Amino acid sequence: MQIITDPAEMQAIAENFRLQRQRIGVVMTMGALHDGHLSLVRLAQKKAGIVIMTIFVNPTQFGPGEDFERYPRPFEQDAALARSAGVDYLFAPAPEQMYPEGYSTSIDPGPMANRFEGSFRPGHFSGVATVVIKLLNITRPHLAVFGEKDAQQLSVIRRVVRDLNIGTIIEGAPISRENDGLATSSRNIYLSADEREHATVLYHAIQHAQQETEKGRRDLGAIAGEAESIIDSVPGTKRDYLCFVDEDTFETAETAIPEKAYRFIMAVRVGSTRLIDNWRYVCGGGNDEC
Ligand code: PAJ
Repeated sequence: MQIITDPAEMQAIAENFRLQRQRIGVVMTMGALHDGHLSLVRLAQKKAGIVIMTIFVNPTQFGPGEDFERYPRPFEQDAALARSAGVDYLFAPAPEQMYPEGYSTSIDPGPMANRFEGSFRPGHFSGVATVVIKLLNITRPHLAVFGEKDAQQLSVIRRVVRDLNIGTIIEGAPISRENDGLATSSRNIYLSADEREHATVLYHAIQHAQQETEKGRRDLGAIAGEAESIIDSVPGTKRDYLCFVDEDTFETAETAIPEKAYRFIMAVRVGSTRLIDNWRYVCGGGNDEC
């Protein structure tokens, strides 16, 4: 595995692979790698001959008071994990290489970026969209893999890539979970032992939604209300949001329409740690009688 820090060098390497008709897949991360990230690598390896991983803690997607400074950066450990996972190139630029003096451009993904995560983290998705487009231009991939864990991020990226005719295939990868259902996250290390136990309530809320929709219920608003009570019954939790949304627009959905794809999304603070989770629901697409 080769480690590259210079955007122009990475671009030249990628361009060369393209000329050799090699298929390039990219997995973008902010480091602090865990099983979730590595599952993205495995998916990229199935779909592409050359896999590039990027590690960049992107300052423009963190708001004031968020954890940019204290975000974990175990680079040596990450590089070792990426290498043993079979990553071919690790692109890890410094902030000043991505945003040099005089840098001024940003992408506005439109209304979807202002809902839910976007309303709690103003500017977040503009920062994500901008860095993702920059990293796509630098790594020139045929496909890019993003986790369904960040469902709104995935929908925003699909929107921007489509709107700007980027032409890269965007692959969604399933959420990787711990044994008790908690979605794997770099932020889980902030949880105390008690909080870690309480954090499983997000998955319990998802299981409730799964069970109820499987019964053929279409009243998504009511199901979300029940899930809210499940979250609220656990001490030390505070909901930022929890509801079903249309997967493409992230508009709230009250009643399921057959064939449509929804996301049951939530952000819950457990102590001072903010956790997000979601479940994809296609009305009539599974065991339900929708
Ligand atoms: P980061 O939080 O490091 O996540 C990198 C990728 O891993 C994202 O696509 C995310 O959805 C995926 N991921 C994280 N936890 C996962 C899990 N438990 N299961 C499956 N996939 C998981 O998301 C970002 O970085 C940044 O916003 C980025 C896209 C790199 C832009 O800076």
